[in-house]
Amino acid sequence: MDMTHLLATRAGDGKPFIFPGPDQPITFNFDQGLASTETFPMEDMARLTQELFQNDGSDVLDYFDPSVGYEELVFGSRGLRNALAQRYGAKHGRSDFTADNFILTSGSVQAISLAASACLEQGDVAIVEAATFPYAVNYMKSAGAEVISVPVDQDGMNMDALEAVLDECRRDGKRVKLVYTISTFQMPTGVVLSLPRRHRLLDLAAAHDFLIHEDYVYGEMRYEGEEIPSLLSLDDSGRVIHDNSLSKTLAPGLRIGWMAGDPSLINAMGAVRQDLGVSQWMARLAQRYIEDGLLDAHLEKANALYHRKRDAVVQALNSHCGDYVSFDIPQGSFYIWVEVDQRVDWLRAAELAVDAGIYFRPGERFDTADDSRQFIRIAFARVSFETIEKGIKKLGEILRDCEKGD
Ligand SMILES: Cc1ncc(COP(=O)(O)O)c(C=O)c1O
Repeated sequence: MDMTHLLATRAGDGKPFIFPGPDQPITFNFDQGLASTETFPMEDMARLTQELFQNDGSDVLDYFDPSVGYEELVFGSRGLRNALAQRYGAKHGRSDFTADNFILTSGSVQAISLAASACLEQGDVAIVEAATFPYAVNYMKSAGAEVISVPVDQDGMNMDALEAVLDECRRDGKRVKLVYTISTFQMPTGVVLSLPRRHRLLDLAAAHDFLIHEDYVYGEMRYEGEEIPSLLSLDDSGRVIHDNSLSKTLAPGLRIGWMAGDPSLINAMGAVRQDLGVSQWMARLAQRYIEDGLLDAHLEKANALYHRKRDAVVQALNSHCGDYVSFDIPQGSFYIWVEVDQRVDWLRAAELAVDAGIYFRPGERFDTADDSRQFIRIAFARVSFETIEKGIKKLGEILRDCEKGD
């Protein structure tokens, strides 16, 4: 029976927001940004789980730690928040942070959703990068905001373009509440917001009175180049909220994410949350993993693997796709954002790629700045070296076959 007439407008057509895979079998899967399963720390997780049950007993399976109380139903395990505060002191220079600067969430997507629902409403404007993470845009829109995108170049979000949008909004009487940026290893482009632009963004936030939402899920996945301080670490105004999670760095199945920021903003996210927090079990596991110093050692190993995979993709693109593609080489994370030359009939090539079992995410899924250009996102973290070589070789053959005028 059709029940769509009983749905709220925000449920759209009643279909969940996932991108369906192709009907054909997938042989070369470059689609999803997934950590490589070979990096999952199976033994450490099994050992720590056993120790947790031995040491913490039934508390592991409870809603909250009885010695902490109800606050964990809103903000999640205080133990993990303390461990994060320590880590943010060391990694982001925020020695002022305590557990009160964090709210734990089910992955960083929930942090993004809480931020949208705590900060945005009908008539507000949110500004994002073009292209960006589509889930973030969806949350902002379903909170009622108008979402405006600003182009990204090799140094990240273009600040002149941002300032022009801010001025225009001011002239039109529109209220810009929030700028969402994936500051380090932007997704899908892989670029890093330069230090001068980070300072300029903070200055613009003060001048135009908006919040900066820094999505940092790829921030610790650098395998090359100089680290650039996060926006959170540069901020002394309390305007930066910063989400992160263990999904890309460690394992997505933990569903442990968080938002960090000024307690007044973190509390507001708590005010719009009604789901009774995150799993004690997973939070305690993550806490132990971080406190035992395992996360940094793990990141070093995992990032080294992604570095080698990135090199393999770059080499394969250069040898097999020639000048039908152009791309920048990212210094971290999981993706290469590839522009396909206009000589290629991309619609035909995309169809042939599906037929050949090659699966990747087409650029239009990310709300790109210029629809006349054709991009694909190649996600390589979970792909074997053999599949990288074979899949990209096949892609090269298809691009050549689809040269317009052939
Ligand atoms: C930019 C960005 N932010 C957030 C997420 C959400 O990840 P999770 O909710 O698993 O932390 C993703 C996942 O693909 C992402 O690419």
